[in-house]
Amino acid sequence: MIDTTPISVCHGCDATVDMARDFPFACPNAGGENDDIDHVLVPTYDSGEFITGTEANPFLRYRALLSPYRLGRSVGLPDDAWTEIVGTLERKLIAVDGRAFRVTPMLPQPALAKALAMNATLWVKDETGNVAGSHKARHLMGVMLYLRILEAGKLPAAAALRARRLAIASCGNAALAAAVVARASEWPLDAYIPPDANISVVKRLKELGATINVCNRRPGETGDPCMRGFRQAVQDGAIPFSVQGPENGLAIEGGRTLAFEMAEAFSAAGDTPAALFVQIGGGALASALWQGLAIANKSCFLPHLPRLMMVQTVGCAPFAHCWQRLSGVELADAVRHRSRFMWPWTSTPASAATGILDDETYDWWEAAKGVRETGGDALVVDEDAIMRAYKLSKMHTGISASTTGTAGLAGLLMTAARGESMAVVFSGGDL
Ligand SMILES: Cc1ncc(COP(=O)(O)O)c(C=O)c1O
Repeated sequence: MIDTTPISVCHGCDATVDMARDFPFACPNAGGENDDIDHVLVPTYDSGEFITGTEANPFLRYRALLSPYRLGRSVGLPDDAWTEIVGTLERKLIAVDGRAFRVTPMLPQPALAKALAMNATLWVKDETGNVAGSHKARHLMGVMLYLRILEAGKLPAAAALRARRLAIASCGNAALAAAVVARASEWPLDAYIPPDANISVVKRLKELGATINVCNRRPGETGDPCMRGFRQAVQDGAIPFSVQGPENGLAIEGGRTLAFEMAEAFSAAGDTPAALFVQIGGGALASALWQGLAIANKSCFLPHLPRLMMVQTVGCAPFAHCWQRLSGVELADAVRHRSRFMWPWTSTPASAATGILDDETYDWWEAAKGVRETGGDALVVDEDAIMRAYKLSKMHTGISASTTGTAGLAGLLMTAARGESMAVVFSGGDL
């Protein structure tokens, strides 16, 4: 039994949300008039201990580090209740997608390291075999487990829960992950997609039972029409089944499991790489990796942190530009003046790495904190590097990752250091 219910704290305004009573999704203070604060609810983990199990499923293995589990225990649910919920979902995920959540490989890739003339280890985290084919489902499984715990514990926030549909604005890996997790949970999902969405993704979303809402741009409209549709749905009562921290801070937490796995792999090998290269679009992946590694480091499980190197492309680099603007600025000040540091990319985003073309890095602040605290950097790569990374991955690893999935490697190609061990995440396969 855990004594207190877990809380989320907004990193911008310090608002706290008790997860048993209110949804830890968007900050309750977000959207205020003349408010320039970056509001994101961050699930807290104060125990300082890096507690892991031995299970192959990361949502069992790291349950003590996850707030939905701690919520369940704090309201009297036994450990078995969590195992039962995760196990039931696992069986349904296998039926829907043929895959379940497993600790994914984090292995040295000597042939790739050799091709890069490295004389140190090149670690590759392979997410291509994860549920729905990318890391995205980790974010959404965390949210779904929270919803299931609310139901199982009959908690105040569970009132009329099943009457609320899930909503997501995406037509890529995030939408596929949302549709798989929603289908396995028998929870209806609305996907808000643009008219030019990838046909095979739309087909799969329909097969998975998602309701498709095509969002056309209105005359004179500047923002993303899909986000407009999504936000309207959430205002009307839908659950934000989103992988963007400002819309759903809890989604970031599920992604921390990736970092916990990395920490275990590095610790077992006695080799923490000097740098970790991460492709960054909306920024949820980078935020999650930073938060997860920081937890492992705070507990001394991981004695030092790799430098976080964020990778964007010439055709869409809002985070890299934001990082330059942050030079010499206290992050505690920047979080209260969002519009001075982060704004949407002003031309039409373009790159072969289509998964990182978010015109805004929604989760910029946590990502920037990770870069700042680890002594990392933000890199901008050209299309030649994106394609070289993609081809090298095909030639020298057995992993079939997409151009987005290998974009972090493009960042490594740009750097001169070859004598220190490095890590990249192959975050997804071809769509
Ligand atoms: C395979 C893959 N990798 C990385 C990313 C970037 O993740 P984030 O948007 O959280 O920065 C995406 C986003 O769609 C993706 O699909």
